[in-house]
Amino acid sequence: MFDVYPINDITIVKAKGSTVWDDKGNEYLDMYGGHAVISIGHIHPHWVKRIEDQLEKIAFYSNSIKIPLQQELADKLVEVSGKKNYQLFLCNSGAEANENALKLASFYNGRKKIIAFSKSFHGRTSLAVAATDNPSIVAPVNETENVIFLPFNDEAALKDCFEKEGKNICCVIIEGIQGVGGINVASISFLQLIKSLCDKHGAIFIADSVQCGYGRTGKFFSHDYANVNADIYTMAKGMGNGFPVAGILIAPHIPPKHFMLGTTFGGNHLACAAAIAVLEVIQKENLLQNAKQVGDYLLSELSKIDKIENVRGKGLMIGFDVPSELKELKKNLLFKHKIFTGEAKPNVIRLLPSLALTKKDADKFLRSLKEEIATLTKKPEAINVP
Ligand SMILES: Cc1ncc(COP(=O)(O)O)c(C=O)c1O
Repeated sequence: MFDVYPINDITIVKAKGSTVWDDKGNEYLDMYGGHAVISIGHIHPHWVKRIEDQLEKIAFYSNSIKIPLQQELADKLVEVSGKKNYQLFLCNSGAEANENALKLASFYNGRKKIIAFSKSFHGRTSLAVAATDNPSIVAPVNETENVIFLPFNDEAALKDCFEKEGKNICCVIIEGIQGVGGINVASISFLQLIKSLCDKHGAIFIADSVQCGYGRTGKFFSHDYANVNADIYTMAKGMGNGFPVAGILIAPHIPPKHFMLGTTFGGNHLACAAAIAVLEVIQKENLLQNAKQVGDYLLSELSKIDKIENVRGKGLMIGFDVPSELKELKKNLLFKHKIFTGEAKPNVIRLLPSLALTKKDADKFLRSLKEEIATLTKKPEAINVP
């Protein structure tokens, strides 16, 4: 294997809901959702059935023929997200979704300048990585003058940039809550300002919802908290509950043209079956409501723990800072307490569990967290020297 990931010495072989098991039979609570991917819970029976039924019919054929499942998915997505008359383009990963969104914006208005923000992460393909604020993952060939980085949530800087560059700005791309950047919530007024400046200057508002979308925050798109419609929403992670599928939802005023976008695998029969199953379960089991309720509970309980700092987030996308005296916390939660959590460098623990997380599992996590914090902060007993 090409060694690009520092990995834990654990082999997961089985999963159900918010629980996973390793090859030695150890049981773990998954507060990480396999990196925000598990939306409806591992191996949900409805999702399994939909995929199995589809597999017995046909798994793949190219986009040169009609695939009614794609329209079924588009209709369901518009219904569940409330983005009326939006058009769907299907692809395979978050980076690909953002790559296509950025290209589409540029095809639409013929411009080149992209506004992105400090600590953003949009993926690893050429334009997506160029719009990502992490020079260590940008290869020399990806470097471009076309991306302008502005400070996150800085309204004055955004206004100033539009004043100077307005007619050159192709698009603004922003995560409603930055994930990799450390759970930083875009303010409502900042998102509203992006919307109004984009509209005023003919730029495209791209809402990167790859991590913060698909119900994770308690609304279908986290940008919905600002009550504005973006021109393009990009989606991936939770969309297939582990089946690789991604897409972009495109506002009705952006017209398609043959061959402007394309993909071999995107929108294949199996991917559509998985994605439809996810939306059906989100609706049937009220998972947006659950994400909000259990998320609010976790946020409020975490805020009461004085050893951790800056508890933040929305729904089941939560982060907190870990002071240096607790630097073993994440590792000990995993190896001692058998709980997976996420992280963001340098010192953030990220919680991205399934949207179906129960209050019981949230309590189990809180108990282990408090117990481990108490252990790590316990002062060593004074040694009595006679
Ligand atoms: C906000 C955001 N955008 C894009 C991506 C890239 O997605 P993928 O890894 O599926 O290409 C990620 C992945 O973590 C992400 O968090």
